[in-house]
Amino acid sequence: MSDSRYQLRYLSEVEDFVKVENLQRVVWSGNETEVVPSHILISSVRHGAICIGAFHGEDELVGFVYGMPAIAETPNGPSLSHYSHMLGVHPDHRNQGLGYLLKRAQWQMVRKQGVERITWTYDPLLSRNAQLNISKLGAVCNTYYVNYYGELRDEMNTSIPTDRFEVDWWVNSKRVNRRLSRQARQKLDLAHYLAAGAEIINPSGLRLDGLSYPTRLQFDFEAAEGKMGELPALVLVEIPADFLALKAKDLSLALEWRYHTREIFVGLFHLGYLVTDFVFLKGNYARSLYVLSHGEATL
Ligand SMILES: CC(C)(COP(=O)(O)OP(=O)(O)OC[C@H]1O[C@@H](n2cnc3c(N)ncnc32)[C@H](O)[C@@H]1OP(=O)(O)O)[C@@H](O)C(=O)NCCC(=O)NCCS
Repeated sequence: MSDSRYQLRYLSEVEDFVKVENLQRVVWSGNETEVVPSHILISSVRHGAICIGAFHGEDELVGFVYGMPAIAETPNGPSLSHYSHMLGVHPDHRNQGLGYLLKRAQWQMVRKQGVERITWTYDPLLSRNAQLNISKLGAVCNTYYVNYYGELRDEMNTSIPTDRFEVDWWVNSKRVNRRLSRQARQKLDLAHYLAAGAEIINPSGLRLDGLSYPTRLQFDFEAAEGKMGELPALVLVEIPADFLALKAKDLSLALEWRYHTREIFVGLFHLGYLVTDFVFLKGNYARSLYVLSHGEATL
């Protein structure tokens, strides 16, 4: 996928990084302390970090991705990886494939560095990020961090524990190559997964104001663990289709979702499940569901 309205460029000049600082102030508005300063961006890029910008016209920076070389602990000892710290697209330019194009460019550059794995974290309750990271890019996840950063002070993250998924993006894997190939895969929808025996373990209800909420707040993992064989190999976990709107309207409901999904994901990862896909059903009552597979069970 390419888009002639935007130009992607590897960033290396001081003035580029000042633009990245300014774009951060738009994407994660509200607190100056959370901005990664240009001096860190410059010195890390001069030592192996990668920062790619998307420009609208000649020089209006509207998106960027930034990450750095990292050491990952593996069962075979420490191994070189790439840690992607930030991906941000200006609100006026979202949903047009720019996030995807920036990650694709990052994928190409990291492969050239001879690195096999890119990792990053994101809030598992953000449906758009899940659609991009899991469905479009083919990242997988079985790591859940509770309150990863402590309290963040920017508008998007304030007032709620910063739980995060840490995803793995195996840059040379068939899965990722297929997702990034010019002939995109046919996306699997909810019907495919239900036909394959997948069970939604927390089906949402809808309130009159259109906000969805979990109807089974307590999923009993102790009991589930005892009868592991009874949980299907494919399970679906529902999240709000627009968590940030929900949080703006009803913070206590947002917190409920945080604690509810924390319990579910921690439990499922403990049981050996892996997040392998994400389904987003558009519409007036949009629904968003993670797909988790156990063992070899992927569609
Ligand atoms: C996350 C972010 C980078 C995505 O950028 P983007 O340019 O909009 O991404 P893309 O257009 O490539 O992909 C977004 C996908 O989500 C879809 N989408 C939009 N709203 C959605 C929703 N509520 N639920 C699920 N998917 C949604 C889009 O349709 C698109 O998918 P499609 O191409 O299959 O139609 C951007 O939203 C952003 O800057 N967010 C704030 C910062 C952030 O969260 N950064 C990441 C963590 S550091």
